[in-house]
Amino acid sequence: MDFDNENRIVSPDFNAADEALELSLRPKTLHDYIGQEKVKENLKIYIEAAKARGEQLDHVLLYGPPGLGKTTLAGIIANEMNVQIRITSGPAIEKPGDLAALLTNLSDGDVLFIDEIHRLSRSVEEVLYPAMEDNALDIIIGKGPSARSIRLDLPRFTLVGATTRAGQLTAPLRDRFGVIARLEMYSKEELSQIVRRSAGILGIAVDDKGALEIASRARGTPRIANRLLKRARDFAEVMGNGVITEETAQIALSRMEIDALGLDNIDRMLLTAMIRNYNGGPVGLETIAATIGEEAVTIEDVYEPYLMQIGFLSKTPRGRVVTALAYKHLGIDMPGQQKLDL
Ligand code: ADE
Repeated sequence: MDFDNENRIVSPDFNAADEALELSLRPKTLHDYIGQEKVKENLKIYIEAAKARGEQLDHVLLYGPPGLGKTTLAGIIANEMNVQIRITSGPAIEKPGDLAALLTNLSDGDVLFIDEIHRLSRSVEEVLYPAMEDNALDIIIGKGPSARSIRLDLPRFTLVGATTRAGQLTAPLRDRFGVIARLEMYSKEELSQIVRRSAGILGIAVDDKGALEIASRARGTPRIANRLLKRARDFAEVMGNGVITEETAQIALSRMEIDALGLDNIDRMLLTAMIRNYNGGPVGLETIAATIGEEAVTIEDVYEPYLMQIGFLSKTPRGRVVTALAYKHLGIDMPGQQKLDL
């Protein structure tokens, strides 16, 4: 089976169509950033303290599932510190020289944002250590026995690293971040606020129940909520009076085959395949991957976080298990077990 994750409306991954949408919707200040209260409160203090001392902010590592606003938060950090942000990603920095070029071009105090920082190569990572620690770049000149190293001073900077997988970061890199913040999935209420804020910016009419309906199906992820909002507007304009109400949101979402909990066909197919082929598990990740023809990392990073968040899937030492809650949602009887009375 071939899945088109790029065009899956409930994929938390960034796609080309999100770019313009997110640019216009991204909050610029901590005040306008909804949710992630703990992270926000702490950052506010670190930023205030660094500014009062006239220093740059400590290096910050943001981790958590995709689509929760890591890039947005990096932009806010730069804005609140009144500095520029340079944005790049782990896979884009191929050679140590690429990183050296980026670092030497920074201005004093700038934020360097590296998305997918767990994908930096070892040789690039090694350039980063002295840069993070001593604001220095060690350059090796020459080869063999006559090679020597010279040290260049770099501007002061704050590295903001983002990753979906903190566990894949090497210990030396992780240890060089002064602030490590985990972003959580958003609550329905927070997402509903985000939907209303986005609707205001985009000039879309949505009532409170319409916003809540979209929020309920957005899988804890603002990126998905904003995408659903745009699609629901089309339905509201063509089939209704242009206002997204609970009813128009429900019609729009069921047309997109997104159910009340935000599951789409692929999620349902994944769970059903585990039930039909492996009695609901335990089944290993690689086996699931082979069964549905998808890469194991994609299943782990894209499908599983939400299914685990809503308690439909659990990870055990012997493999993944579909829970009773998921059977009930899918309307499938659970074999040999007492039915959950929910
Ligand atoms: N858009 C995306 N994420 C957001 C957030 N956390 N707050 C406000 N608007 C957002």
